[in-house]
Amino acid sequence: MSHIEIQNLKKSFGDAPVLRGIDLSIQQGEFIAILGPSGCGKSTLLRIVAGLEAHDAGHVLMDGAIVDGLAPKTRDVAVVFQSYALYPHMTVAQNLALPLVMRDLNRAERLPLARRLSGRVKRVRAEILQAVQRAASQVEIEALLDRKPGQLSGGQRQRVALARALIRKPKLFLLDEPLSNLDATLRASTRAEIVHLQKKLGTTAIYVTHDQTEAMTMADRIAIMIDGEIIQIGTAREIYDRPIDVRAALFIGTPKMNVFEGTAENGVIHLAATGTAVAHAAGVRDGPVQIGVRPEHITLMREQREDAIPTVPTHREFLGSEALVHIAIGEKTRSVSAIARLDADVIDGLQIGKPASARLRPGALHLFDREGKRLETPLHSSLVPLPQALGREKRAFNEQPAPLLRV
Ligand SMILES: Nc1ncnc2c1ncn2[C@@H]1O[C@H](COP(=O)(O)OP(=O)(O)O)[C@@H](O)[C@H]1O
Ligand SMILES: [Mg+2]
Repeated sequence: MSHIEIQNLKKSFGDAPVLRGIDLSIQQGEFIAILGPSGCGKSTLLRIVAGLEAHDAGHVLMDGAIVDGLAPKTRDVAVVFQSYALYPHMTVAQNLALPLVMRDLNRAERLPLARRLSGRVKRVRAEILQAVQRAASQVEIEALLDRKPGQLSGGQRQRVALARALIRKPKLFLLDEPLSNLDATLRASTRAEIVHLQKKLGTTAIYVTHDQTEAMTMADRIAIMIDGEIIQIGTAREIYDRPIDVRAALFIGTPKMNVFEGTAENGVIHLAATGTAVAHAAGVRDGPVQIGVRPEHITLMREQREDAIPTVPTHREFLGSEALVHIAIGEKTRSVSAIARLDADVIDGLQIGKPASARLRPGALHLFDREGKRLETPLHSSLVPLPQALGREKRAFNEQPAPLLRV
């Protein structure tokens, strides 16, 4: 159990900056996910925290003490990688015992004959055997202890790797995409197991992944990392509801948030593709903006209406209780595509290719500036007609009824 503090951590490989000043504070017992696309520097960060890689600037602190420059062994961290890194010639039991053998016995004591000579060695070996049994039962691999890694499935190997990580009761777990090699079903069940285990042991964990589902389902908090920077830290809910950057917005949520080009003009936000006024936003400077809307905040209507966005449904995906409807917004030449998420029972009458219309829930819109930074501004619908919207009279939407109209 340990409290981890990462302060302004920087790392370059040659001229290429890989970490550009990472700040992260992880509470004792917390499970934090570092979520980011491949190549953004996640593994490098993890390796630095583990002591496997040197950094250029900044500090790593464990329980308040700077550990920069300390060897991995003395940091008391356990790392689980995507590749299991088990020794193929050793049995599962031997693989599990190895970290303890290396820690608790010196070179001479590890020799097979040593146990005859020393009472201490006997005792330590007995303790190691017990620890192996305990760790194996925690991840339910007792039956596999005599097998070699080659005789195990991917999921079983990953459990062995987990058991080997937890056998030392480390202060900190570092997990680098540990589920990538597993098939989808196994991944889902192993997700839950890892969290269960981590909570039971109370060990602080940093879990690196590019998979938003893993981050969202497993972590207490998520740090979104893009291009060597952490752009937002928060619970999955916080990031989903209030992304502070359009890149974070796009990284959390399936299907992705729809992001449209728009303009702000006299406190009114217009959709660029159609000129439709979609919300009042007092205090936003005139100019280009990006309008974000989650798929569940798009309402579709069967007919084309003056007070809604002209839309053509292009494709639909039935998913059981809900359905995703792909739509093209605006005239053909300037049309942009989007995805709406609707209750499955309202899409029966939906006609692919026939004109329809859409509304974006004004209160649920996310506004970003041109660079993608969130604009903190209350967004309102209006009951009164809006002024000229890009040359055409348009009305803002009334948020009040916000009906999921049958299409
Ligand atoms: N030892 C290294 N030498 C040179 N470049 C490296 C080294 N390790 C990683 N990189 C580069 O640093 C960047 C980040 O890598 P990495 O931390 O592995 O990203 P991630 O784990 O997020 O996919 C990548 O562009 C990668 O090519
Ligand atoms: Mg990696």
